[in-house]
Amino acid sequence: MFLFIDVLRILVVLVSLPYLAVGQRKKLACSYAHPQAVEIGYLPGNITLDLCTHVIFKGFSYPQFVGRQMRFDDEEKKAFTRLLTNVRERSSTVRVVASIGGSATEYALTSVSVAHRRSFVQAAGSLLLELDADALELHWEHGESYDTGASVVTDRLAMVTFLRDLRQTVNSANDQSEGRNRELWISGTANPHLISTSYNVFEVCGLVDQVTLETVYIPRGASHAPIYSKPVSLPKIAGLNVENISIGDGIIDATNKWITDGCPPKKLILGVGLIAIGKSYMSFLGQFFNLFGQDFYDWGPVERHVVDYRELCTAFRQPGWSFVWEPHGLMPYVTRQLPKGLEQRYSYENVQSLGYKIELIEQQRLGGVYVDFLHSDDVDGRCGETYALTKFLASRLQAIPSDIGFAIDWI
Ligand SMILES: *[C@@H]1O[C@H](CO)[C@@H](O)[C@H](O)[C@H]1NC(C)=O
Ligand SMILES: *[C@@H]1O[C@H](CO)[C@@H](O)[C@H](O)[C@H]1NC(C)=O
Repeated sequence: MFLFIDVLRILVVLVSLPYLAVGQRKKLACSYAHPQAVEIGYLPGNITLDLCTHVIFKGFSYPQFVGRQMRFDDEEKKAFTRLLTNVRERSSTVRVVASIGGSATEYALTSVSVAHRRSFVQAAGSLLLELDADALELHWEHGESYDTGASVVTDRLAMVTFLRDLRQTVNSANDQSEGRNRELWISGTANPHLISTSYNVFEVCGLVDQVTLETVYIPRGASHAPIYSKPVSLPKIAGLNVENISIGDGIIDATNKWITDGCPPKKLILGVGLIAIGKSYMSFLGQFFNLFGQDFYDWGPVERHVVDYRELCTAFRQPGWSFVWEPHGLMPYVTRQLPKGLEQRYSYENVQSLGYKIELIEQQRLGGVYVDFLHSDDVDGRCGETYALTKFLASRLQAIPSDIGFAIDWI
């Protein structure tokens, strides 16, 4: 039966279509590491605001007690203000996100004491009201548990309590300044094994505006940020047709899990590390024992060597690299022989692998991408075009038709 109310609903949607079209543009958040960016001579004025919709200042260390109040570091606050002032001078649309780092332990310890939590929330509120940030991001680091996939049940409980308090602070900041819509963000894991144990996805996504999914350190698999995990082939036993099984460690498994656990896809922003992760290993040992071989499976944090894309692309000019495509992760890697029987391997991103990540965003209707870090890209064009990877992401995101057709789904 076609009710009058349905007609009204459709009319409302049709009238608001032009506004929805604007609202549904995919985000491209560019992260800026402090003080690392300044150390390489990359200042706030160097940020390419025409590519980014948001700049994330990664940035604030966990606030410390000074007397009975929690305070952020003064030097970090000054650096944030320099960035924010510069961005505001050059753009009226790019929004600035203040990211607050902190270990799971620091967050958990604060959360169990009402007084401590209140101090934290007050300090965080000052980033909005005094320093004028457009959004806060809690960067909740999982540390070792991230590698082992061990459960961190305290995170699951503490996080929701924290976010409830912060939501109130953000809302009241919005009430105080008409027309401003400040936001609350949180970083989330793309390690499928940690999602259920560490995140109460349904509640978290109800409280925050965006979840930035960290994909860089997915510990298992043949690439460091794989779309699909490498399947494990079981041996064929006496006529039984055994299939390859997926161990579910890919980014696609993680984003699916966030969505099926109750997160609206448009709240998820997929992280893309413009870095390469490498290691050196004895190639003959790898062949015999399959222990220190090419998989990221057995890469402890100590063995990892992280370089910016900017540096790796210049290293490619040296002879001896073999360029390989990893078919499950849909990512490239390079290997080369070093003296003394050592072999070196780097897993990295190029426009081809980034293209697959954009496809994932389009198919799952995620909110966009965040680039970690903008200054890891080829900022000065030493390997060709400046910002080759970020420019590619920006143009592909712009080409995605807005989610307009799906507006009808919501009524
Ligand atoms: C940042 O901008 C300044 C001034 O335009 C320029 O001299 C410098 O090389 C830039 N730094 C980087 C790392 O691109
Ligand atoms: C399992 O994987 C192997 C190697 O990737 C492939 O050759 C084979 O066709 C796969 N088997 C099935 C049933 O998908």
